[in-house]
Amino acid sequence: MASTAAGHELAPTTGATLVVGGTGYIGRFVAEAGLALGHALYVLVRTFGPLVCPSRAATAAALREKGAIILEVIMHELSSRLSCMLTSIMMMTMRRRRRTSDVFQGSVNDKDFMEKTLRENNIHVVISAVGGETILDQLCLLDAILAAGTVKRFLPSEFGHDIDKANPVEPALSLYNRKRRVRRAVEAAGVPYTYICCNSIAGWPYHDNKHPSKAAPPLDRFVIYGDGSVRAFFVAGSDIGKFTMRSAFDSRTVNRAVHFRPSCNFISMNEMASLWERKIGRTLPRVSFTEEDLLAIAKGWNLGSCF
Ligand SMILES: NC(=O)c1ccc[n+]([C@@H]2O[C@H](COP(=O)([O-])OP(=O)(O)OC[C@H]3O[C@@H](n4cnc5c(N)ncnc54)[C@H](OP(=O)(O)O)[C@@H]3O)[C@@H](O)[C@H]2O)c1
Repeated sequence: MASTAAGHELAPTTGATLVVGGTGYIGRFVAEAGLALGHALYVLVRTFGPLVCPSRAATAAALREKGAIILEVIMHELSSRLSCMLTSIMMMTMRRRRRTSDVFQGSVNDKDFMEKTLRENNIHVVISAVGGETILDQLCLLDAILAAGTVKRFLPSEFGHDIDKANPVEPALSLYNRKRRVRRAVEAAGVPYTYICCNSIAGWPYHDNKHPSKAAPPLDRFVIYGDGSVRAFFVAGSDIGKFTMRSAFDSRTVNRAVHFRPSCNFISMNEMASLWERKIGRTLPRVSFTEEDLLAIAKGWNLGSCF
């Protein structure tokens, strides 16, 4: 059994790791960290994603280049004739281009397909980084994990606050409730799990309804929440990836939540603004938003589509 620098035992790494959502914002950091650690790593990719989003295709290609085995799934939801034609053409092209990697057909919401994929590839660890809209798809994945019988650890898509301890208002509450439902199902199923509570990914906090990967650092003004003095933990994406992988193979983290709280990154918006001003070499005006302002802006949002 391998051990960490501090001498703690790591679970055996003979089986492979599957990252679901490896082409996404958080999932890419996780997949890259797994590859850097030399893990046998599979990444599940939906073929219709790259069709509509070239950056996802580029991410899958970059991961494959680094050694990931890409499992490509065709979504059954692509039911129109045009979609079917496009998908068939794409699959034929992929088969011609990628003779060395297997191409799987099926859907992640297809339990039989997922069960077969997990069993045939001897997947021991499943790390899910699906986004807010598809959190409940993990219930099907969980059924497949139970049926396959190979999986020794499941990390459902969390990557935020501790959802059982935080107490958000809408629209975040609905997202938290979906994640809570997945937690309860995992615990009831008896699959060994680890919950990753990484707090905020490093970046300027944003209050508009966009995906965090699209939130650029401010260049014209800072929007400061309240008096800007409340501190929070911010963690670099590469560290989220690295410590997620290490947690997945650490015997101390079985059936526990792991909190990422680097004390050097416990900072307020005022402190972060000063850091950024030093970096860009100029000062920016600061505009203050109250709690009421933020609640009014957030009314009617659906966080599922941006988180
Ligand atoms: N702490 C933070 O600051 C922070 C920031 C962002 C996100 N998060 C959390 O991190 C997690 C991941 O979010 P994200 O923003 O990284 O998501 P994202 O960028 O939207 O990526 C989601 C990934 O999952 C894939 N996916 C979604 N549903 C799937 C399904 N049914 N089968 C197979 N693949 C599927 C997507 O594939 P396609 O390309 O095919 O759509 C994509 O690769 C979420 O739990 C989110 O709440 C936390």
